[in-house]
Amino acid sequence: MIVPGYRDHPAEPWDRCAPVDPGEAEDFLRRCYLENPRLGPVEPRLAIVRAQIAATGSYVHTTEELTYGARMAWRNASRCIGRLYWRSLVVLDRRRARTADEVFSLLVHHLQAAGGGREAGRIRPVISIFAAAQPGQPYARIWNEQLIRYAGYRTEDGHVGDPRQAEFTAAMQGFGWQGKGEAFDVLPLAIEVPGEPVRLYELPERAILEVPLSHPEYGWFAELGLRWHAVPAIANMRLSVGGVNYPLAPFNGWYMGSEIGARNLADADRYDMLPTVAARMGLDTGRESTLWRDRALVELNRAVLWSFEKAGVKISDHHTESQRFIRHLANEEKAGRPVPADWTWIVPPVSGGITPVFHRYYEEMDLRPNFYPDDSGCPYAKN
Ligand code: ARG
Repeated sequence: MIVPGYRDHPAEPWDRCAPVDPGEAEDFLRRCYLENPRLGPVEPRLAIVRAQIAATGSYVHTTEELTYGARMAWRNASRCIGRLYWRSLVVLDRRRARTADEVFSLLVHHLQAAGGGREAGRIRPVISIFAAAQPGQPYARIWNEQLIRYAGYRTEDGHVGDPRQAEFTAAMQGFGWQGKGEAFDVLPLAIEVPGEPVRLYELPERAILEVPLSHPEYGWFAELGLRWHAVPAIANMRLSVGGVNYPLAPFNGWYMGSEIGARNLADADRYDMLPTVAARMGLDTGRESTLWRDRALVELNRAVLWSFEKAGVKISDHHTESQRFIRHLANEEKAGRPVPADWTWIVPPVSGGITPVFHRYYEEMDLRPNFYPDDSGCPYAKN
């Protein structure tokens, strides 16, 4: 689907992309070559990069630098509890893609490579890295918060779907997109490349793996008609490596169950399912002290984990991920590296105090390479 003539975009964000800071390039390259002796000596490479920056305001990463830089960015992502496996990140170098059609088909490929194709389920962490921003030049980007998200519709008596996506959904409808109006309609991708109006693309079914939710004991749970997608693929963060910015670099991991069960389906401003689940469980919702919310929350989270496991789709629980994160801390300490971490994001949204990550403090540091929230110029994205 093509949306012609979209022009009411706010300030052109690429104006703000400054020339690469040679100091940041050097810091990155020194570390990258130090941690990867097989790349050889860094000095000759630094000389080339300095010259490139002086001539063009930027420089071009080798595939090895880009790959390791993306892995370092994950390692430095202070909000992510799943960093134990940072070395396993699969990096797809898509810097040559130019047209919206090319970008779209590579994003479909990304979702399939991540294991989210139909009948798949072995989810692997993958990042697709598209062209770097050049100083003063426009760049491609996508407007979606994630590659797969559910539409949210405002209705007379409330809303249907994911309220978090209501604004974005309305914008897509403004471009002529029509959802079914149901609770789990996958949104189209809105892809914008330089010099062209934004285009909307419907993801093919083969790119969208979803899991219908049921419960190991409560037969009625399936009747709620809940489901969730298998691959969380963040699309609105900019990857920054050695002073170079990659504004389009969607990446995914696998889900931790509580992201779905304790946030997406539970938050009052998302699917708000706790009152419904509690009512079906027959709990006394008249008094907070019955802890009906907590009891419904646990069953909702059991349903998420059980359903994904039954469907053969990789997911992990918050206890396991917390233990892995503690192992990651130990590994990094052994390697002599600090682990920047944000307690408020690392501690799971359910049962915080019975996971080991709760009982300590973390260093908060902005280490690069890293990922940064980037809604610049995108009127409908949310971080
Ligand atoms: N919390 C987000 C969501 O529910 C996904 C964030 C990334 N999560 C991950 N497991 N890699 O959609």
